[in-house]
Amino acid sequence: MLEVTGLRVAYGGIQAVRGINFHVAEGEMVALIGANGAGKTSTLKALARLLNAAGGSVRFRGEEISKLAPHALVSAGIALVPEGRGVFPRMSIVENLQMGAYCRSDKDAIAADIEHIFGLFPRLKERARQMAGTMSGGEQQMLALGRALMSRPKMLLLDEPSMGLAPIMVQKIFEVIRTVASEGMTVLLVEQNAKLALETSQRGYVMESGEITLTGDAADLLSDPKVRAAYLGE
Ligand SMILES: Nc1ncnc2c1ncn2[C@@H]1O[C@H](COP(=O)(O)OP(=O)(O)OP(=O)(O)O)[C@@H](O)[C@H]1O
Ligand SMILES: [Mg+2]
Repeated sequence: MLEVTGLRVAYGGIQAVRGINFHVAEGEMVALIGANGAGKTSTLKALARLLNAAGGSVRFRGEEISKLAPHALVSAGIALVPEGRGVFPRMSIVENLQMGAYCRSDKDAIAADIEHIFGLFPRLKERARQMAGTMSGGEQQMLALGRALMSRPKMLLLDEPSMGLAPIMVQKIFEVIRTVASEGMTVLLVEQNAKLALETSQRGYVMESGEITLTGDAADLLSDPKVRAAYLGE
């Protein structure tokens, strides 16, 4: 579904992503793990067209998307849940969810999808009219995920959904991520929590200093001594 070849991202003279190759098959959940500054967010931003890649090709369902405008990307079926969530703080929960559907015009289906999101996250329903900026970090992460789903994406890009959240909230968020994946969603999951990411995914890539240094089945990576030493604190 997603085929990335030779992707490069640079900030001025700094090479953040140095020509990486990876792919995600339809219906797969794939983890991209690595330490601070490895280039994970830069990779997702390039995929979501929030920045221009310095080189390389990104094919999504057979189509080259590395030059598309960000809104065209949403229409093509890719939704990013950004690091730090990026909800609209002065809009209510319902308004944030409606914003997620801005590229759609099927009013009845949009209303039904909002109800579906409320089913996944009852907490959001209880607070439907609350300003998003006044919600807790975990609630904002739920909302960011819900908003991304409102575009009815074919693929989700998740940037550190567990960051800064209490364990119980992480559990709740990942329960929903697993549910969505089990319903057929294709997911690229960026996480510093390598254990959680690999336990949730089928395959994984390890990124270090802008390069992919290791890849394999998630279970194999979880038992790999190098991964255990570098990312699982052993
Ligand atoms: N806007 C920017 N301008 C200059 N350098 C940047 C910019 N954004 C990121 N970088 C640099 O690019 C490198 C990769 O950063 P990136 O945010 O992609 O890492 P990351 O793997 O997501 O890290 P983290 O786990 O901390 O989120 C880092 O060295 C970072 O300092
Ligand atoms: Mg990051």
